[in-house]
Amino acid sequence: MLGVSGSVAAYKAIELCRLLMSEGARVLPVMTEAARRFVGEATFSALASEPVPAGLWTSVDPSPHTRLAREADMVVVAPATARLLGALANGICDDLLTAVLLATRAPVMVCPAMHTEMWENVAVMENAARLRSRGIVVLGPTSGPLAGGDEGLGRLVEPTAVLDAVRGILAGLHGAASDGTVARDGTVARDGTGSDGPATRDLAGVRVLISAGGTREPIDPVRYISNRSSGKQGYALAREATVRGADVVLVTAAEGMEPPVGSEVVAVETSREMERELMARCQDADVVVMAAAVADFRPARIQAQKISKADGVPDMALEATPDILSELVEVRRPGQVIVGFAAETHDVVPRARMKMAAKRVDLMVANDVSVPGAGFGHDTNAVEIIAADGASTSVPMTTKAAVARAVFDSVVDCLAKSSKESAARGKDPAKSSKEEF
Ligand code: CTP
Repeated sequence: MLGVSGSVAAYKAIELCRLLMSEGARVLPVMTEAARRFVGEATFSALASEPVPAGLWTSVDPSPHTRLAREADMVVVAPATARLLGALANGICDDLLTAVLLATRAPVMVCPAMHTEMWENVAVMENAARLRSRGIVVLGPTSGPLAGGDEGLGRLVEPTAVLDAVRGILAGLHGAASDGTVARDGTVARDGTGSDGPATRDLAGVRVLISAGGTREPIDPVRYISNRSSGKQGYALAREATVRGADVVLVTAAEGMEPPVGSEVVAVETSREMERELMARCQDADVVVMAAAVADFRPARIQAQKISKADGVPDMALEATPDILSELVEVRRPGQVIVGFAAETHDVVPRARMKMAAKRVDLMVANDVSVPGAGFGHDTNAVEIIAADGASTSVPMTTKAAVARAVFDSVVDCLAKSSKESAARGKDPAKSSKEEF
């Protein structure tokens, strides 16, 4: 069910409706009175699977809210106004859309759109937090141009991002991967061809800690040292793990990325912050995946004031950052699976194998970032996944989502091996000592 409330961004819901229909979804449109002032009801009636119902009181259907609430596999409200968030957070239903939202047992996602001042109002923030705490997905808003020539946080997320999130949530529900298409029966194929079958929930209950993005190491208040990492591979890993049933925490230094639905996201900037957040959480994780490109060097001293050109070229001393992956291995919990990434431009696999031995990880993902279309910033990647016993799996150029799938296939193998080994020793992996590793 696609709910549209009264924001100027309602015009984007038309595109969303079209996208959902073209993916094979059955779209039941519901509009608030205010939404009807922004876009025509006839547009949705023409595009969606059925006409927009008149309203709670005027509908020919004696109980339109319960019918829609029961028929929907998922309810998406895009755009969601401050009023809509407030009504939902407080259990108020005064029109058809809010009545459906109260009556449905299906997963609900709301995509807020409003001016920055309204979004940042404490009441609205509290309502959004309350909705999140009840398991309702609040997607966005993002920053960008707003109505009336303003600019800032409050913009509706793009329809394609809403579609991705819908896929992710339905995939979680139906036990399939997040990059598949939604079929007419609501099931999700992995790659749109239907050839690969649905994913299993083989990470159900597994706690996964993932790092993503390139850290930024400040030089002065306006400058920093960083690298070309976009965070896309780390985010794809978070989505894949969520779809397979894991509880995911994503510690990210990436900028401008849509948060992956279902993950707890911890934003960091520097290697020091990333180290702190990962070390604080690693004992609670069954799997740790270090996809982040942690800066290897940082300025030894951060200048408190902006360095001026007039002072000449600065003589900047650098110091090494902590090797977080090695620290994580040092405190590794028994049975915990740790995955490293090796971004290389030459001698890729031999160098990755050397890093693997030095860092003592269970899996090393060798990533040749010199190949066009692979690595930093791209939506595609090509990797070699190396296991501790030396075996390797080649993943030729594909989407980062497919690489994520291959990585977690290997993680699942490692988890199975580790529980088999501890069973053979007659021990609970949680009780064996760190020295055994
Ligand atoms: N890594 C880390 N902390 C660092 C540097 C790297 O945790 N300070 C992690 C990365 O997240 C990755 C793995 O170590 O999982 C390998 O990173 P990479 O940059 O390829 O290797 P380095 O250890 O930095 O070695 P080199 O600079 O010689 O390539």
